[in-house]
Amino acid sequence: MQVHETAFIISTYRSYHEEISQDFYSKLWNNDATEALIPEILESVSQDEAVLHSLRNRFFYEQLSTFFKKNNGGTLINFGSGFSMYQFALDKNVTTIEIDKKDIITYKKEKVEYWTKLGKLPDRDIQYISIDFNTCSVEEVTNIIKPLVKKQPTFILLEGVLFFLNKETSLKLFRIFNTLQNKGDRIGSVSYLPEIENTEVYKRLLHYFDSNNDTNDSFNHQTIPNSFYGKIKEYTLKNHIDEFELAKIYAKEHSIISKDHILNENMYVLEKL
Ligand SMILES: C[S@@+](CC[C@H](N)C(=O)[O-])C[C@H]1O[C@@H](n2cnc3c(N)ncnc32)[C@H](O)[C@@H]1O
Repeated sequence: MQVHETAFIISTYRSYHEEISQDFYSKLWNNDATEALIPEILESVSQDEAVLHSLRNRFFYEQLSTFFKKNNGGTLINFGSGFSMYQFALDKNVTTIEIDKKDIITYKKEKVEYWTKLGKLPDRDIQYISIDFNTCSVEEVTNIIKPLVKKQPTFILLEGVLFFLNKETSLKLFRIFNTLQNKGDRIGSVSYLPEIENTEVYKRLLHYFDSNNDTNDSFNHQTIPNSFYGKIKEYTLKNHIDEFELAKIYAKEHSIISKDHILNENMYVLEKL
């Protein structure tokens, strides 16, 4: 399993529950290779994964859309953007900066431009940057991104990425965010709580990754306590919810009985002071 494959899988999950995810463009990325992997993941890890990832997308879609409507546009800076498609669901007055590893960015840019030409995607102002978070410096990333931010305010998204990074890289990213943002700007972040490490479902996830390990693409298994977000002194926590609670709002028909039986991710929205 390579990290970019996880981006395809998540996008496919969103396409399975469009009414929950509100992502009506994710199905453009669907492909046979990814669809062949999904039944085994749902079977061996958790049947709820597709709904949970759709809930995560719904939460950030609502957050982004409210923020940019209130501010009459702005810039979405998506770190580890994978195949997320928020920019096409948001109004045209939102500019997007997509940041990911080179292979994802090259492929996404080419496909998006092609689908836009065909009229399958609405025209949007999108910039694409390839960066490896593990090797870049704060100055390097700031110097690349700052000149590209033409519309204030900014909303930075770090969705489905922290799990794959180590602590040092994660702290570096939050330093980058601080140099890029101004008062009132926001960060949306997702992570697992350390408590999940004791659950059977999380052990099954790690087992799945271990048994499908690709030696060329190693990644971490990071969990993060709530206190991490409280300690970022330049920001205040505006919103915190987990997927278990989101299911009660947006997926009532899917009976998710217990937090301990699902890969329950936590969503955080921070505002710069
Ligand atoms: C699970 S996907 C999530 C994609 C998207 N944010 C979403 O929620 O649909 C993780 C993404 O993080 C990117 N990523 C992981 N490690 C990275 C790194 N060191 N540098 C840049 N991107 C990275 C991967 O390439 C992948 O697109």
